[in-house]
Amino acid sequence: MSEFPELRLRRLRRNEALRALVRETRVDVGDLIYPLFVVEGTKKKQPIASMPGQYRFSSDLLSKEAESIARLGIPAIILFGIPQRKDEVGSQAYHPRGVIQQAIKAIKKATPELLLITDVCLCEYTSHGHCGVVVDGDVDNDKTLKLLSRTALSHAQAGADMVAPSDMMDGRVKAIREALDGDGFQNTPIMAYAAKYASAFYGPFREAAESTPQFGDRCSYQMDPPNSREALREVEQDIAEGADIVMVKPALPYLDVIRKVRDSFNYPLAAYSVSGEYAMVKAAAQQGWLDEKRIVVEMLTAIKRAGADIIITYYAREAARWLAVD
Ligand code: PBG
Repeated sequence: MSEFPELRLRRLRRNEALRALVRETRVDVGDLIYPLFVVEGTKKKQPIASMPGQYRFSSDLLSKEAESIARLGIPAIILFGIPQRKDEVGSQAYHPRGVIQQAIKAIKKATPELLLITDVCLCEYTSHGHCGVVVDGDVDNDKTLKLLSRTALSHAQAGADMVAPSDMMDGRVKAIREALDGDGFQNTPIMAYAAKYASAFYGPFREAAESTPQFGDRCSYQMDPPNSREALREVEQDIAEGADIVMVKPALPYLDVIRKVRDSFNYPLAAYSVSGEYAMVKAAAQQGWLDEKRIVVEMLTAIKRAGADIIITYYAREAARWLAVD
């Protein structure tokens, strides 16, 4: 057994070439998914105050944005729709000419090679802001499933390459799989937001998507932050129902959950570095309090080191450049 002074761990850190040779984790632009918000109308590019550098685009401008994202080597985007009209049952979520369905068509036409994933949820489309149908003040699980599967199917019909349910209803993956298979979309994968926590880190997103619940909170369907064994049960359930990719969300405060899921399941694992994670770093960087580029690369690396294969991040665009020169 070698010991100090023969053993010197610093030997392999002496220069960048050595460090690169023994580096255990690398983030590649090909691991990233960029989240984007789409609004109705044309020629719109509205800055999101709570997320500096992010915008709500109308689909004409979003198609151009998508082309430049694809040119950076980012393989996929995930799309969130913000409709003009909201109602009790979120009917614009599954309208064949809804905001998202039109955006899918426009983007697919402009950039067919870019993988287009859609977030499947009702909260941006309901007047009460909850992720499902509200009955007697509570989100009704089984009634919501029908609307979610209609929504997912309408996305696939419009041309989405993958659907990503984020509602946290029980049974939604199965319901969506059946709806897709029943209409000839056997090859459309499902990326399930499997372990999605009721997190304050979604605050900036809710401002961006205008999806803050009008009463109560999401604690009766999203997971309780202190629980990690339960996350494994959520992942297990989604895999049993047919998920192709599973997700942990948020990412940075839940690295332990990412590691547990990675160690327990042999499925591709995505981690969503959410709006609050982005906003914290942006705000501090704007104050000059930290080195944004180094922080972001370190964060993304940590998320991969914890076990994620795929990272959904609002920093995808900037990271594509930073990772290329590093
Ligand atoms: C929709 C949804 C949310 C996020 C992704 N899909 C918001 C929420 O659950 O309140 C959050 C994404 C982010 O914060 O970046 N249900």
